[in-house]
Amino acid sequence: MKIAILGYGTIGSGVAEVLETNHDNIAKRAGEEVTVKYVLDLREFPGTKVEELLVHDFAVIASDAEIGCIVETMGGVEPAYSYVKEALLRGKSVCTSNKELVAEHGAELLEIARQKKVNFLFEASVGGGIPIIRPLNQSLTADEIMEITGIVNGTTNYILTKMSREGQTFEAALSKAQELGYAERNPEADVEGYDAGRKLAILASLAYGMQVDYEDIYMEGITKLTDVDFQYAEALDAEIKLLVSGKREGDSFYAMVAPKMIRSDNPLYSVQDVFNAILVRGNMLGDVMFYGSGAGKLPTASAVVADVVDAVKHQGKNIMTIWSNKKLALSDRMEAENNFFVRVPKTEEARAREAFPEITEVKLADLRETEFAFLTPRLKEKEFIQRTQALTILNRIRTEFAE
Ligand code: HSE
Repeated sequence: MKIAILGYGTIGSGVAEVLETNHDNIAKRAGEEVTVKYVLDLREFPGTKVEELLVHDFAVIASDAEIGCIVETMGGVEPAYSYVKEALLRGKSVCTSNKELVAEHGAELLEIARQKKVNFLFEASVGGGIPIIRPLNQSLTADEIMEITGIVNGTTNYILTKMSREGQTFEAALSKAQELGYAERNPEADVEGYDAGRKLAILASLAYGMQVDYEDIYMEGITKLTDVDFQYAEALDAEIKLLVSGKREGDSFYAMVAPKMIRSDNPLYSVQDVFNAILVRGNMLGDVMFYGSGAGKLPTASAVVADVVDAVKHQGKNIMTIWSNKKLALSDRMEAENNFFVRVPKTEEARAREAFPEITEVKLADLRETEFAFLTPRLKEKEFIQRTQALTILNRIRTEFAE
């Protein structure tokens, strides 16, 4: 099998490295040798091994009948979408790590792959090196998926771990995550929760077999968290994690990305640094958790290459994936229920106690004179907003506990 790699950045060059390092084993598993014939990139790489494979025009790859599989690691919707669509229409399988592309056009590209009897595979688009897409498609098929909760952004989990465990600043931790190749080109996508939202859209679309639009998901990032919030979290024996959550309750579907305080009874509590974990709850199976390296060159490239092996093994045969383009209407997030940790100025304690007669106060010795902090009972988002209307909120974080 001759393949082409589109985009020779962190992941694309990782794919070449994995194919070279594990060449013999990959050939054995795929049933034939896998060779990179082209690398598409705008840049030149003078004096490197990739130089002789380099092309700048996608048409060269698209029109080469010898290329049976394309690896797309460019990121972003365009031109990746046009290239991938053309490749599939020409009967070439595509393996991608591109979550923007999959979240937005997954249903359509899967349908084209089905019609052309090739494959559109995207294991690396969620959870980096963790197998989660294949299990959702092929292993958990006896169950109705009731809930998916997880940590699916390595950059923010790295930042939160460094802030919580080492007292690092947000900026220092972010720049280290960038240096390590975890962060998006525009880190807003990580820290504002958009990357996690796209991954949740992909997971939910696969779990429910219908299109969950990323734009419909309520997304809150980690930029409002401060060292004071981490001090309170420590006092409460809790960690603050950026969680994605998709839930089915009767006929309602909820999806949200937001920081949450969790305690050690939640298996996501000890997921640190760049690691990701995804907890899936099936109606027969109960809970199952997937854990591993969530970002970075080689773990992500490993998942892409596993897809290439699958594509080689399934030549001429489409691996069925149920993801229709019919839109799944998400329920109003105002109806979702949570507990909240809330901080208000000390001067507003009486007003807060009036609004929430059933709270548990959280005390930090240093801040006793300036702030009043408390945990609310479980209540709907809309009720929380109503009850806090007259208060000056310094910060509020959803929690899984009330005392
Ligand atoms: N920026 C992403 C993350 C890369 O930090 O998880 C992997 O998708």
